[in-house]
This record gives sequence, structure tokens and C-alpha cells, in this order.
Amino acid sequence: MSPSAVPLPYRLDVHPGIASGDDLAHDAWAGLTGPFKDLPPKHFYDERGSDLFLRITELPEYYQSRKEMQILRALAEPLVARHEPVELVELGSGASRKAEPLLAAMTARHGGVRYAPFDVCPEVLLASAGRLATAFTGLRVHAVAGDFGMHLGGLPEASPEGVRLVAFLGGTIGNLLPSERTPFLRSVCQLMRPRDLLMVGTDLAGDPDRIRSAYDDSAGVTAEFNLNLLRVLNRELGADFDLDSFEHVALYDPVPPWVEMRLRSARAQVVSIERLGMEVCFDAGEEMRTEVSCKFTRESVAAMYADAGLRLVEWHTDRDGWFGVSLAGFAPG
Ligand code: AVJ
Repeated sequence: MSPSAVPLPYRLDVHPGIASGDDLAHDAWAGLTGPFKDLPPKHFYDERGSDLFLRITELPEYYQSRKEMQILRALAEPLVARHEPVELVELGSGASRKAEPLLAAMTARHGGVRYAPFDVCPEVLLASAGRLATAFTGLRVHAVAGDFGMHLGGLPEASPEGVRLVAFLGGTIGNLLPSERTPFLRSVCQLMRPRDLLMVGTDLAGDPDRIRSAYDDSAGVTAEFNLNLLRVLNRELGADFDLDSFEHVALYDPVPPWVEMRLRSARAQVVSIERLGMEVCFDAGEEMRTEVSCKFTRESVAAMYADAGLRLVEWHTDRDGWFGVSLAGFAPG
């Protein structure tokens, strides 16, 4: 092996809050004490949950990942030629599959390309950062494990030269409630200088049956993924959720439009959460919301950018118009 083929060492920073369970304790307290039970979806993604999500992306019903990859494979080279990014920051990078076509096009064009994946799961980052540092020799990888509601400031500084591309793919922006979107995008803008670009993947509104099925697959992987949240609560907070007495529910609501995932208690029961010194009562049939996944149109994406002081620069979809990848920059003036 020639010296130039030796992969560079990579770096992983872990914010303590996500590993300690404090954040989960706070969210469980806030989400389980009121009349309407609800937990934020970021807590799905422990190592097992990240793995289950990867299996979801391969399900026949879950079209989103394949559609987005098709768009990215076609888009990567022309996009890199047009905008010449030298740095990729990826929020919610997971296994970093989606970054690959972009990094391939970037490293083919420039030396010294940097990649900063940011995810809530440190285990998945450790594995994917190493894989990419090996796959693309010369690539500088600085991974950050944190919560993008809190820890974006821990990402490396943008270098003074070259364009930074900030990518938020997979449709994960749909997991934010509409009221959370603008503040979030404004915080993402803090990572960008005037010439930098934001790329967002959005699942598009459409046939309710097709979209709902993507969250209720026949192999039951999504059900397992949803129930994994209860395993996380049991392990991290000493709770005693009985996984057999909760059922996976997925429904499509055409207004906003979004998909909701819920867990339905099959019977009346009391669950204890030791670390919170708390007991939670469920009625028979009571549902707890575990995820919203908003669906978009070109118009709603443009409006979302405008609300955050950004401007839609490019809009790409797959042939069927099921998934969208957009680029945004700062509105001039
Ligand atoms: C990772 C947020 C894009 O909302 O479609 C997949 C997560 N949940 N199946 C989505 C998910 C259930 C997914 N995102």
C-alpha cells in the first residue's frame, strides 16, 4: 500500500447529554405526564433502533430511501460541478449511505474534502465515519454525536474558503413539528456563510395508501422499530413496559399532511418508570404518539425556506414525484 492510500484518522465527538439518558428522562417526564402522551422520535435510535431503521430502508413498502438515492445519484455530479462544495455537513447522517454519491463527486473534483456527519447515535457514527474514511482516501471526517436541537454548535467551523454544503436528507425534517421547523432551520443557517448551501430531502404528499403502507410493512420491521422505543425506556430509565401489550399503529392524516406512528395499549395497565419515580396509567386502547412524519409539496418546501430567510434554489424529484430533494441558499439582500 502506498503511503497516500493510508486512510486519515477520523474524529468523533460525543455530547454527554445524549449518552447519559438525561435528555430521554426529560422527554419522558414531559411526554407521559399529560393527558395526551407523546415522545419525540429521536429516542428510537439506539444501536438497535439505528439498525432497524436501516432494515426499514430496504423494505419494499419504504420507497423513500430508494427514491432519494436515485435522485442523489443523478444529481451529485452536476451539483458538485455547479456549486463546487468542498465540505459536506450531514445532519442525521445515520449509516452515511446518502452521503456517498456526494462525497464521490466531491473527492473526484477536489483534494482536501471534509465530511462532518452529525447523528444522535454514536455507535452508528463510529462505524460509518471509519467506513467512509477508508472508502475515500484523503477525506477528513469529523463526526459529532449529539441532538440537533441542542448541539449544532459543536460542529467544526466552516473553513474560510470553499462552499459548505449542509445536507439534511432522508425526510428527517418531516419529524419536526411544523412549529419547530423555522427555529431549527434558523439554527442551521448559523452553520452557513453567505455562499453556502442547504440540501433537504422531503417525502412528498400523495396517495394515502402508498404512504401509510411505508410505515406499516408486512414484515413487521416498522412495528419492531416503533416498539424499540419501549425497550429504550426500559433500559435507560428502569421502566417496565411490557412490549407484548402495545401495538404498532400508523395513520396518514391528509391535513397537515403527515403520518403519525403511535403505540396502542392493548389493555388498561400501569407502567412504572423507576428512574423518574413515576407511574404511568394507560387506558385500554389508549395511544401514545411516537412520531410524526410530515409530507411536503414544492410550494410548502419553498414556504418553509422563506420562513427561515432562505430561498429555494433547486428542486429535484424522482420520476414518480414521490420524493423531493431541494437546495436552498440565503435570499439576496
Ligand atoms: C428517518 C425520519 C425519515 O419519518 O420516514 C421510518 C423514520 N419511521 N419508518 C421517516 C421512520 C418509520 C423516517 N425518517
